[in-house]
Amino acid sequence: MVVGKPLFSAEEIQKKVQELAEQINSDYRGAELVAVGILKGAFMFFSDLVKHIKIPLTIDFIVASSYIKTDTTGEVKIYYDLREDITNKDVLLVEDIIDTGITMNFLRERLLSRAPRSLRICALLDKKERRVVDVPIDYKGFEIPNEYVVGYGLDYDDQYRNLPYIAVFKKKV
Ligand code: IMP
Ligand code: MG
Repeated sequence: MVVGKPLFSAEEIQKKVQELAEQINSDYRGAELVAVGILKGAFMFFSDLVKHIKIPLTIDFIVASSYIKTDTTGEVKIYYDLREDITNKDVLLVEDIIDTGITMNFLRERLLSRAPRSLRICALLDKKERRVVDVPIDYKGFEIPNEYVVGYGLDYDDQYRNLPYIAVFKKKV
């Protein structure tokens, strides 16, 4: 397996992150936000995104996983749940990538049952072709083709998360 050419450079990603933060800043004017990073994948995107958010916010995390190597198991496991009570709060869920949609759909329903005032979804990448469950993405970075990608938080078997860019991960032939 090899890491291919960057699909999105560090500069392209930073520009997009800033654009997303600007949309969030203008949409949530006057609100108090709970930004929730979905770990591990979203750690880099989340920390870059919140640096550009100008409205009052608290941060929290969920550690969830459904993937083994490059395959989804279809079953979402929660390893760490929110510490904050989100009842009546404006919640922004921040995810690295939406693929089948199973993870985000599961998390969204789980959090909606706690009666937040609002709940929106921000995802850096959207692998639309693979969607099994429809989920509304309020803030979307890039749409990508049906390829496995690594870097900028995204992993293969927990590796490559530290790359500052996003690249296609290819099976060597
Ligand atoms: P879903 O439940 O199929 O939408 O999968 C979402 C999760 O799978 C993401 O949060 C990622 O952690 C992981 N994932 C999906 N596609 C990729 C990929 O191309 N590279 C790395 N991780 C991925
Ligand atoms: Mg993830």
